[in-house]
Amino acid sequence: MKAVVIRQYGSPEVLQYEEVEPPKIKPDQLLVKVHASCINPVDWKIRQGMLRFITGNKFPMMLGFDLSGEVVEVGSQVTRFQPGDQIYASLSPPAGGAYAEFAAVPEKNAALKPTNMTYEEAASVPIAALTALQALRDQGNIQPGQTVLVNGASGGVGTFAVQIAKALGAQVTAVCSTKNIELVKSLGADHVIDYTQQDFTQDTAQYNIIFDAVAKQSFSGSKKALKPKGIYITTLPTPETLVQSFLTALIPGQKAKIILETPKSQDLVYLKDFIESGKIRSVIDRTYPLQELAAAHEYSETGRAAGKIVITVAS
Ligand SMILES: NC(=O)c1ccc[n+]([C@@H]2O[C@H](COP(=O)([O-])OP(=O)(O)OC[C@H]3O[C@@H](n4cnc5c(N)ncnc54)[C@H](OP(=O)(O)O)[C@@H]3O)[C@@H](O)[C@H]2O)c1
Repeated sequence: MKAVVIRQYGSPEVLQYEEVEPPKIKPDQLLVKVHASCINPVDWKIRQGMLRFITGNKFPMMLGFDLSGEVVEVGSQVTRFQPGDQIYASLSPPAGGAYAEFAAVPEKNAALKPTNMTYEEAASVPIAALTALQALRDQGNIQPGQTVLVNGASGGVGTFAVQIAKALGAQVTAVCSTKNIELVKSLGADHVIDYTQQDFTQDTAQYNIIFDAVAKQSFSGSKKALKPKGIYITTLPTPETLVQSFLTALIPGQKAKIILETPKSQDLVYLKDFIESGKIRSVIDRTYPLQELAAAHEYSETGRAAGKIVITVAS
């Protein structure tokens, strides 16, 4: 099969499109003919070697975590899927493999694809939407009527966070730059702050939850904008946020939390219901064929994508 592999860490040029052996599935896995994948920043962070303390130095290495496609074979322990099912899934980092014509997908990481989404739309959902869902629902314990600020509302995680917070009944303030104001309004944001004009950390407004989807504001800097029992959630684990998360868990008052997304079948089913009832859609900025993955990585690395970057693998 065709796949993209890397043989060393480095710039996008290390991504090589070549012939490799198709994966062999374990008893609890599905063999999936991949139709589409997408870019998450973790893909190029691994490619650059930023996460080598987790990913090690064993090459060739396959990247790509989100995928949609058709099940062609199921392992002996698989109970919920059969050949022909259209699924969407996220592989568990650090073991990628979605940038390929076929992928071995653990049953516990997959769900049936939302019926109202194309393969391209469905492939853009898993990591970004699971991160937003697990941050707001599980870390933030979001409640109807609460006020939620999403920083980085135009990004992959942020576009889903705005919609999920609205679907869960919150009043949402979206922070983005001027060019993305109309986009985040179209996703349901009640208020928009243009970060090129206004700094939300210096405003008088206070929020129950500040979800820093792009990890551009610290907990310390956000404290003034948090209600007395407000929760700050970041997507970036750093020594500082780990210490703050540990310490604020011990005392009453404002909390700092870190989201570490977990691929979970039941959460993909939860999102599928939101998608099929029209509460969530995917925002696709650009689409690239698998052969042009390096260009897709380069674009993602600019940090300017509005929504998701999709990779088409097969028609
Ligand atoms: N911990 C986890 O489990 C987990 C899971 C998923 C992602 N992540 C991390 O979360 C981060 C975001 O991921 P993503 O997929 O959403 O990234 P992304 O799609 O690449 O984010 C790009 C967006 O960020 C916006 N942005 C850039 N600087 C900003 C600023 N100063 N203030 C507000 N918005 C800004 C950009 O808008 P403008 O062009 O208008 O500035 C752009 O729309 C990444 O670091 C990723 O690695 C962590």
